[in-house]
Amino acid sequence: MKIGILGAGSIGSALARKLSAAGHDIQIANSRGPHTIDPGIVASGARAVEATDVITGIEALVISVPLSSVPAIKALIADLPDEVAVIDTSNYYPLRDGQIQALDDGQVESVWVTEQLGRPVAKAWNAILAGSLETKGTEAATPGRVAIPVAGDREVDKAVAMTLVEATGFDAVDAGSLGDSWRQQPGAPAYCTDLTRQELAAALRAARKDRVPQRRDVAMATITEKIEGGATLTSDDLVELNRSTYN
Ligand SMILES: NC(=O)c1ccc[n+]([C@@H]2O[C@H](COP(=O)([O-])OP(=O)(O)OC[C@H]3O[C@@H](n4cnc5c(N)ncnc54)[C@H](OP(=O)(O)O)[C@@H]3O)[C@@H](O)[C@H]2O)c1
Repeated sequence: MKIGILGAGSIGSALARKLSAAGHDIQIANSRGPHTIDPGIVASGARAVEATDVITGIEALVISVPLSSVPAIKALIADLPDEVAVIDTSNYYPLRDGQIQALDDGQVESVWVTEQLGRPVAKAWNAILAGSLETKGTEAATPGRVAIPVAGDREVDKAVAMTLVEATGFDAVDAGSLGDSWRQQPGAPAYCTDLTRQELAAALRAARKDRVPQRRDVAMATITEKIEGGATLTSDDLVELNRSTYN
């Protein structure tokens, strides 16, 4: 499949490498131009392109930019045909994205993204840390395989997103509509806790909407305090912290 990836940071670059390795035809862009893209991504087989060229000829687009950059990319994807699946990896943290108008705590991030872009999106890979995405992918049917939730309103978008999640080495779990995707946002038991398919399905069901923003903020405050105290947190440390805070 020919796939565009907008955003070449921790998540976009890991996806470019993994999807190239899985045989997909990847073109990837950031805001500063192709010459600034990590040569390791290009070595994996992906093409580094200008942001204005990232949608050319693609069958799917992954958007992996900070939530605050989403309004700015609307113009870049304005000519993308309606049938192309757009997959959003965004998460919202009030502390990190304080410069944009804060989303209400009851607001669903990817619903906001779809409103900003004026087109449907599916949500995937938001609920896995970059460190786990890089290192924990396995072959299908491997015991203990980590699962990733996928939400969306158009079945065709969700099907594409689920196929690509599997191609990156993870079980894809149908998490319902975009409106349901608060169940996979920061603060929910399914968020970045590296669960198996069955555990993830149970975690999605167990989420309580009133608790999610509070627990997100508790985890963020704990992480900030530890880092300011000089601690170095690994991806596995963060998964453990999420498991104990979000359950
Ligand atoms: N890091 C994680 O563990 C993780 C896990 C799950 C989901 N997420 C979510 O995934 C998204 C990406 O996260 P990340 O950690 O990969 O971010 P990141 O490392 O900060 O990278 C962001 C990328 O977006 C690009 N970008 C920003 N504005 C742009 C624009 N207007 N046009 C084109 N490209 C633009 C940046 O390009 P320039 O550098 O050239 O500006 C950069 O390549 C965020 O929404 C984040 O919340 C992150």
